[in-house]
Amino acid sequence: MKFTLKKDLLLGTATAATQIEGGDESNNWARFAREGRVIDGSSPTRACDHYNRWREDIDLMAEMGMQIYRFGIEWSRIEPIHGYFDEEVLEHYREEIEYMIEKGIKPLLTLHHFSNPLWFEDLGGWTSPESVDIFINFASEVIDYLGDIVDEYITINEPNVYCLNGYFYGIWPPEQKSIFAYSKALSNMASAHVKCYQLIHNKRAEMEKSREETRVSFANHLRVFSPKNYHNLWHRFSARFMEHMFQGAITDAMMTGKCVFPVMRRGGMERGRYYDFIGINYYSRSTVSGISDGVAEGCDRNDLGWEIYHDGLIDLANLLSMEFGDEYPIYVTENGTCDNNDSFRSRFIYDQLKLISELDNRIERYYHWSFTDNFEWREGESARFGIVHIDYETQKRTVKDSGKFYSDIIKNQGVTDEAYKTFVEPSKYHK
Ligand code: BGC
Repeated sequence: MKFTLKKDLLLGTATAATQIEGGDESNNWARFAREGRVIDGSSPTRACDHYNRWREDIDLMAEMGMQIYRFGIEWSRIEPIHGYFDEEVLEHYREEIEYMIEKGIKPLLTLHHFSNPLWFEDLGGWTSPESVDIFINFASEVIDYLGDIVDEYITINEPNVYCLNGYFYGIWPPEQKSIFAYSKALSNMASAHVKCYQLIHNKRAEMEKSREETRVSFANHLRVFSPKNYHNLWHRFSARFMEHMFQGAITDAMMTGKCVFPVMRRGGMERGRYYDFIGINYYSRSTVSGISDGVAEGCDRNDLGWEIYHDGLIDLANLLSMEFGDEYPIYVTENGTCDNNDSFRSRFIYDQLKLISELDNRIERYYHWSFTDNFEWREGESARFGIVHIDYETQKRTVKDSGKFYSDIIKNQGVTDEAYKTFVEPSKYHK
């Protein structure tokens, strides 16, 4: 064996509704695509047609041995008109969840993953003072319907990435460019998370589910911010500043209700603890030399130019355990890479799981991003993150070598010498 998986570590994959389902015209990303804003001209209305092919996808997941699955539901399908909830859609999700449970796959349900119904977007989206109550009303309906079969929840995915791109850089819907809009949206999301955390626990208690089996948190996108030149004070200050503005403040607010600019206190945000596990989405490191993002010179990169830096995940996991309590399990709610030809993904998986397994940390779950190739937001279909290849024209699914490798790791609970030879040796990073 090259290494054995860390004891009690469960492996699976993660997806998001808008990125895989197809068919829904009434969310903000479908409109963004209609307006020609997606770089390669594709649209989430095609994606992987998972809304129709979910059974086939879950079967494949089960065949590959997946133990856990993080997935989302599409708000605009469930509540196509403000205040009207479509039971058929809720029933559709219920059927899918029951099926995965039957197949032995434990669900982790994401309530919000970057997409909003158009009516919500047009009311002002996450900058609107009403956004929190509207979202909580939606969440409440979902928990009433699905709460008895789902134990584990992500309230909101990556509020920092969503708000930064949508409200500060203006490159995602709703294309606003203002620090005030960023701050407002971020604050509303923090408040929505805190309220949603309480809502889920209250509702599950009414369903006579124990507090321990109900696990709620959010998926926090964390990066490592390193000064380009450690001896340069400006670089060091910028790294700290970027870290705070992008992830430090929102982490504190969502987890404990502590509000520091850019997060502003909203009603109901008492100091407390609003997590049952620590959720980390980890992809890369930023090398900072000013108030901007950068990539270290000469490093290994993925096909979107992001640095491949595996140590960062372990460092962040340990930092969060120290800060928020090492009694809480850590779920790597996303980790993966854009590798359009599947030429280095196996090595990526090997390197990351080896570190998780061999170093000290509280990681209990690893959700690889992603199961199939999918609609990668502004990049569209052209950026491939899946361990299963999608031919978008025919919708044919083909397990990639990295998928075979991942499946082999689960089966053998580690990396055998043979698997290393077959999958990892030929797999090489590029600069
Ligand atoms: C998001 C995913 C996305 C992935 C790769 C994360 O920021 O949650 O939706 O596809 O990164 O870019």
